Amino acid sequence: MRVTSLVSLLALAAPLASAFTLSAPTNPTSGEVTEIHWTFKATDPATFDLFLMNSTQAFGLVAFLGTELETDLGQITTLLPALPAGDDYQLRAVNVENVDIVLAFSPVFAVAA
Ligand SMILES: *[C@@H]1O[C@H](CO)[C@@H](O)[C@H](O)[C@H]1NC(C)=O
Repeated sequence: MRVTSLVSLLALAAPLASAFTLSAPTNPTSGEVTEIHWTFKATDPATFDLFLMNSTQAFGLVAFLGTELETDLGQITTLLPALPAGDDYQLRAVNVENVDIVLAFSPVFAVAA
């Protein structure tokens, strides 16, 4: 019981450490333009890198969607690369100097072909 609650706390700790939140894009389609939105607090880093991931893989990098994006923009419009249709996509915002420092994950979302 005690071990279980400790594990739950650790799992929660990473997302709570940052105020940054990343939304899933709305109806994203392979090879088409999509909008990506995020929210932030003044304490978040001024820039970040944005990755498109396959959420079922630990290191499932699919594409770089942006490098050194300005946090205070709050959104970008970007062209998605040609992608296989699937339900397992996820955005990941990371620290520009250390990609292992994750600012936020988006919810998992589907991309249409
Ligand atoms: C994500 O990875 C899994 C496991 O390798 C694979 O079966 C699936 O097709 C991948 N999804 C996409 C959208 O590439």
